[in-house]
This record gives sequence, structure tokens and C-alpha cells, in this order.
Amino acid sequence: MSVKTYPVLEPAKQRALIDDATYQAWYRQSVADPEGFWGEHGKRIDWFTPYTKVKNTSFEGDVSIKWFEDGVTNVSTNCIDRHLEKRGDQVAIIWEGDNPYDDKKITYRELYEHVCRLANVLKANGVQQGDRVTIYMPMIPEAAYAMLACARIGAVHSIVFGGFSPDALAGRIVDCQSTFVITADEGLRGGKPIPLKANTDQAIEIAGRGGVEVKSVVVVRRTGGKVNWFSERDIWYHQAVATVEADCPPAKMKAEDPLFILYTSGSTGKPKGVLHTTGGYLVYASMTHQYVFDYHDGDIYWCTADVGWVTGHSYIVYGPLANGATTLMFEGVPTYPDAGRLWDVVDKHKVNIFYTAPTAIRALMGQGDAFVTRSSRTSLRTLGSVGEPINPEAWEWYYHIVGEDRCPVVDTWWQTETGGILITPLPGATALKPGSATRPFFGVQPQLVDAEGKVLDGAADGNLCITDSWPGQMRTVYGDHERFIQTYFATYKGKYFTGDGCRRDEDGYYWITGRVDDVLNVSGHRMGTAEVESALVSHDAVSEAAVVGYPHDIKGQGIYCYVTLMVGQTGSDDLRKALITHVRKEIGAIASPDKIQFAPGLPKTRSGKIMRRILRKIAEDDFGALGDTSTLADPAVVDDLIANRQNRK
Ligand code: WTA
Repeated sequence: MSVKTYPVLEPAKQRALIDDATYQAWYRQSVADPEGFWGEHGKRIDWFTPYTKVKNTSFEGDVSIKWFEDGVTNVSTNCIDRHLEKRGDQVAIIWEGDNPYDDKKITYRELYEHVCRLANVLKANGVQQGDRVTIYMPMIPEAAYAMLACARIGAVHSIVFGGFSPDALAGRIVDCQSTFVITADEGLRGGKPIPLKANTDQAIEIAGRGGVEVKSVVVVRRTGGKVNWFSERDIWYHQAVATVEADCPPAKMKAEDPLFILYTSGSTGKPKGVLHTTGGYLVYASMTHQYVFDYHDGDIYWCTADVGWVTGHSYIVYGPLANGATTLMFEGVPTYPDAGRLWDVVDKHKVNIFYTAPTAIRALMGQGDAFVTRSSRTSLRTLGSVGEPINPEAWEWYYHIVGEDRCPVVDTWWQTETGGILITPLPGATALKPGSATRPFFGVQPQLVDAEGKVLDGAADGNLCITDSWPGQMRTVYGDHERFIQTYFATYKGKYFTGDGCRRDEDGYYWITGRVDDVLNVSGHRMGTAEVESALVSHDAVSEAAVVGYPHDIKGQGIYCYVTLMVGQTGSDDLRKALITHVRKEIGAIASPDKIQFAPGLPKTRSGKIMRRILRKIAEDDFGALGDTSTLADPAVVDDLIANRQNRK
């Protein structure tokens, strides 16, 4: 198969901070001499006390990862205070509301005051360094203030995406023993209110039964919708910030002090609290933001993610603000009021750098080009993609229609665990191949291995590992270091295993092929099949469930559930609806099953292990090649599964 290559665009090369020769030279140095390389680039952030030690990391044994460990800094100072002299009146955050007539701009000086005031409110209510603060917010500037206020006083934030259910929120509150929550009365998306405060109230009740008593809830008034009020616990944001000082001294944080916890799904069990720390994370987030998007002073930068995901942490808030950028925060959805919204916003705010997910590109592509071409988009210079593999058709549409062949597309591969982008083109340095994340960022050493761990050289297809640490890497699973070791470093000893499959072509370009474990990627949202299964079996009618992904035109992957019912129950469309509602209640709307098949039996080996390979094939409507089924305890169940399959092309 011949693959199209797009050479580096001349204007991009002219402007770029990094050309190909520089990429090659820096990359070589970064792997030959990580100490020297990162010792130099660690200076891109300000330190109260400079570090003398750079790298102290081991993927063996107990797995210990420390960067810049004797340095002392503060993330909020780096994102705000250090810009005040030069760009105090520059806009730090452009907020674009759900409603196109609703927007506002916050300068760095205003950001300073908002963050300091909220930090003082946290302190006044007893939040101390190291305490976990849960943030459950819509996409409003106060979400960024909340993150930075925590960073300012050394509290550890745990953001829970506003689309998660009260149960999911409660689980995360309990796991990190968080007794302080910041939320809003309601969110607003696509004109619809989302009852965040009511969800928080419920979650707090559930968490209370789980042994964690939330003491204070700060509530931002967003819509003015009606909320229940518990005066001994709830605090209105607007009232509280008015009563405290507008300055708050930053806490002196050691480089390895925790900055945040972010829960993410794995192949087994409940979501893990991915822990990121202070110094290395910020160095890596800011450096990747600058070079991957070729960010220059004065650029208007827009990442459409939600702060509830890691992309929002690193590339809406921390990376851009550390670089003194103007970052746009969008409350709404790409299709409201219509499918031209994103491009209208690009024109309205003269966006230069635009970063979104393949699922959004595919959804908009299906609405026709007129929604795009009615806008001018002349401000655009760099386009980015993240979250899942981008299919070449969507890539081409993004490049030709949205970017009019003028804007390099950076397909950035990374994970919650990696803190920042690991494999990516650089706009002025890398020739592009649609569908490939191309080459490693500085300091990143990818390696492909086969199932047995044999290292594959040259052009090859295998499992993607990273052989040495980079500063943005997660440090542990909160409260469970053993799980950290087992999940990431036990499959291939001494290597970080990503969970992704990957091909390397003859030019050394990397092509991520998707997860090789039981993790789904639905519209760029990560979800464990085990989580959906446990939600299903918690319903009274269900005795057993097996969940797999199947290819979905817009979402990338859809959720296909095989459900075995309790004796006496019969499958019906009503029960399907009830199960969907149940999963939404347990996890959130993002986990809504797309297909539910009632199955009297699941294909199991004689030792009782469900053969997911077979379930995946049937879900894909590709049951001609089921492979060897002779090891099944009861091969006849397969015929029933095929006969009643729900996804017929
Ligand atoms: C997938 C999101 C292909 C991958 C930043 C990874 C991608 C998982 C890409 C992490 C990409 C992310 N191409 N696949 N450019 N970016 N992925 O933790 O499977 O929400 O392991 O982090 O998304 O998802 P997470």
C-alpha cells in the first residue's frame, strides 16, 4: 500500500522554532545525555531554589521516578506571576460560552487576583498542603482558577469530568479521601443544563456511606438554576471570594510534591488515580506545548478538550499558561447552535492554533463542507489531533478543507499517564503521513516488542513500550504503588508498557493501532470494559456480562454488551433501555451501551475464562474467521451468539 507523504510546508519551516536538523540534533542529545538535555530545558520554568539533580529514575524493582528532585518551585507562579511584568494586561483566558453571545476575556493580572482569592478561600476553610480537592465543574474560567488555586497552596486537585455520574464522582472522592469539593450550580452544554450541584449532593451522600465525609463545597453560580443548600457545608463562590485578600503567597513546592490526581480507566478493576507531580510535569507540559504547536508569543491557542481529561490539564491550562499564551476555553459542543460553531469561534477570536479530537472531526465531516467554508479560518496556522487514531479520510478532510492545505496537522499520541505528548510531528520539521503520529518527542524512546517481549527492530508491528523516563511521566497510582508497578512495568520487565499496539514503518514513523488491552476508546474517552461490565451486573436482572468494543464510524469505538440474564428474566427492548439507563446512572452518559445482546451463554474455556476474541469478532459482524473454538466448554453457544448478533452491516 502506498502512503501519501506531505512534505514540511515552506512557511511553517520558515517560522518554526524547530527545523528538521534541530530536531535530529536535539533528539540525539536528549537520548544520549538526558541529564544534560533536561538539565538545560528544566530552566524554562522558574525555580525558587534551582535543582542540582536532574534525573533519578528506575523502571526496575520498586520503580522510582524523580526529576529535578531538589528544585523548589510553584506551578501557579509559573503560570501567572512570572508573566505579570511583561504581559499583565495580555489576555490569559478567552472564555467562549455555550451560547455564542456569551464570552469574556481574563487578563493575566485578573487571573492572578481570581486565583489568589480562591486560594485564600480554600485556606480559610482549612485546606492544607497535600489535601485533595475534588473539582467537578463545567468549562468555565473558575475551573482553571480552581486548579491554579490548589497549585498555589500545594493542595492536590482531582478533577472529575462533569459528565460523570454521582456514583462515579463518589468513588473518586472516596478513593483519594477528599473532603473538599468545588462545583457549580449547573453546567450548560448545547443549551441543556447539567445538574452538577445536585449530582454533588448525591455523591457526597454516597461517599459518606463509603466513610468519607465531605466538609465543604464551594459552588460557582453559573446558570442561576435552583439548588438545594446545606448551609453548614455549602459556600457560594462569589460571596466567599469577596471577603478575602486579593494576594496569596505561593507555597514553596518541591519538584516531586504532587500536583494532581486524575482518574483513568484500565483493563481491570476500578479507575486508577494517576498521580502527577510538580516540576517535571510543568517542564514537560510547557515544552511540548511550545514545540509541538510551534507556539509563538501572541498566538491565540485553542484546545477543545474538557478540563476533566488530561488534555485539558496539560494543554488548556498548565502548558499554555506556563508559556504566557492566550488560551481559549470553550463551554459548548461542536454542533451547537449548528455544525459550524468551531469555525465561527476560530474566526471570532482569530485562533492560530487549533487542537481537537478525531471524533469531532469525523462528526463534522459528516455534516458537509458548507459549515466549514462559510468561515474564513485565515488565522489558522497549526492543527492538532489527539485522543485516538485518526483515520486517513478524517485527516485529509481536516488538512484540505479545514486547513486549506496551509496548516500542518500534528497527530499527537500520548496518555493520561504520560502527562504530555510523546509521539508527534513538529510543524516545521516533520513530513506528515495521514494516520501516523510520526516520530518521538525529545527524550522519548519508543520500542516495539512482541507478545513474549522480544524487541522488534526496523519496520515492525508490536506492542508499544517506552524504555526510559521523561519528566512528565506519572509517578504512581495514588495510594497503590504496587498497582502502578503491576500495570505498567510488569508485562515487559524494566519497560513502561503503554497498552497500545503500534507499527513502525520503514521511515521510522509510528502508527498507533489502538489498545491491545481491555480498554475502550469511545469518542476519545477512555473506559475499561470491566467498568461497564460491573455496572451491568449490578442491575438486578443481570447475571453476567461481557463488554467489547466494535468499530464505530463517528465514535471510533462503540460499546457492545453481551448480557446473560437471571433465571426468570426475559430480554426485551424495555429491558435494554433500562440497562442503558442503569449504566448511565452508574458511570455517566459517555458509557452508554450502543448494542446490547441478550445471550443465554457466553463462550468460555473449560477453565471458565471468557473468550473475548470471539465476542469481538461477532460484535464486528466478522464471524467468518472465529479461529479455533475447540477449546470452548460449549461450542454451541457461538451459534446462538451469531444468530442473534446486533450489529449487522
Ligand atoms: C489513545 C489522551 C492514536 C491511545 C491524551 C492511548 C491515541 C489512549 C492518540 C490514551 C493518537 C491518544 N493516535 N491513539 N494521536 N492519542 N490515543 O489517557 O490508545 O485519555 O493509549 O489520554 O488514547 O487516552 P487518555
